[in-house]
Amino acid sequence: MGHSDPVINVEARQNYWMPFSPNKEFKTDPRMFVRGEGMYLYKPDGKKAIDASAGLFCVAAGHCRPEIAQAVYEQLSTLDYTMPFTRSHPKAFELAEQIATYTPGDLNRIFFCCSGSESVDSAMKIALAYHRSKGQAQRQYFVSRERAYHGVNMGGVALSGMVNNRRAFGVGLSGVHFMRHTALPENKFVRGQPEKGADLAEDLARICALVGGENIAAVFVEPAAGSFGCLPPPVGYLNRLREICDQNGILLIFDEVITGWGRMGAAFGAQKFNVTPDLLTMAKAVTNAAQPLGAVAVKQEIYDTITNSGPERGIEFFHGYTYSAHPASCAAGLAMMEIFRKEKLIERAAEMSDYFLDGVFSMRDIPGLVDIRGVGMMAAIELKANQTPGARGHAAQKALYDAGVNLKATGDSIIMGPPFIAEKHHIDEIMEKVRTVLVAMSKTA
Ligand SMILES: Cc1ncc(COP(=O)(O)O)c(C=O)c1O
Repeated sequence: MGHSDPVINVEARQNYWMPFSPNKEFKTDPRMFVRGEGMYLYKPDGKKAIDASAGLFCVAAGHCRPEIAQAVYEQLSTLDYTMPFTRSHPKAFELAEQIATYTPGDLNRIFFCCSGSESVDSAMKIALAYHRSKGQAQRQYFVSRERAYHGVNMGGVALSGMVNNRRAFGVGLSGVHFMRHTALPENKFVRGQPEKGADLAEDLARICALVGGENIAAVFVEPAAGSFGCLPPPVGYLNRLREICDQNGILLIFDEVITGWGRMGAAFGAQKFNVTPDLLTMAKAVTNAAQPLGAVAVKQEIYDTITNSGPERGIEFFHGYTYSAHPASCAAGLAMMEIFRKEKLIERAAEMSDYFLDGVFSMRDIPGLVDIRGVGMMAAIELKANQTPGARGHAAQKALYDAGVNLKATGDSIIMGPPFIAEKHHIDEIMEKVRTVLVAMSKTA
């Protein structure tokens, strides 16, 4: 028997090892939710918190959508599972077809997996397999960027530009070269895309000169870095990366796990910033986070090259997961596609972005802020660090929970990205509560 209720009983909290969390602290001072509905999450005592980060930037249509719950229930009661290797089910094809109507250019071949991290590692493998199929197996290096987050599988950790995510896991991370990040001191408190910094893309040209552009498989970037704390790309930066990739036969991969599905105010960051990558990773909002699902959208030519170079009747690409295109995830994804269409969610995100960013940037008068950054429906407020980097960000997210706002902090930045069903009064509620907490913190700094 267990130790009854983990909400009340400390003993009942011991077995669960929480990810990316201060376990010891949480188990003595927990902050849990027991219910969600629309814009709100509910605490065990019944009090509610407005969800300013859409979970982890994934619950785009708000919590507990009955259409999705129903679709998942029906799917699990009809066909709960079928293996995805040499077998399939219709919803996998239907979802891929629908996703391909949103992806940019001819990125119309969709490889399913179960998370953002898996989408990144899958994209790395697709890039390597593509070059090998073309007789360019020497293309083994990847290029990433400081402050990048590309998930936590070993490929993604190799690409990680966040030191805490890689420092303990060093072995096996070779073969990745890093461009500098784009958070320039002169871009502080700039709303949207900064004018300065496109020249940082020349780092890619320097890496090509150093290791040979013909040895590089792919460049990974988040169109706007998310997890680190929202870094919109400087004007012209992504275009210049595209040019250098084209000159050197390197694949450009956009990691759109956060920026995809409306977060930037367009279907994908690719459309928002008007640069088309060769591969694009996605996860999170594609199912409203109600079921785990990731995907890689791939240019048709890449798919054709890999599949045509394989045997006539044999496997062409040796990669996949037990839960690739899981029927329940595909059912959730299809229900979400319907919500995107019916509720014009992406258009809503685009329309609400100005109001949201007005609210976020109105906080710049609060003492002790180092920076505010924002684009689309994503923004970060960076607090001045004390002696322990990250401590103030951590304190802020706890105080915000207590004050009735759910959001994520990374380091000393609090990151906001509400669901796209947010009305203006929801945005007002978030801003008022965040302001109250940050002002109070500024007095005790
Ligand atoms: C850009 C990016 N890539 C990959 C991931 C990893 O996704 P997951 O946590 O679903 O594995 C994330 C998660 O936030 C992300 O922001």
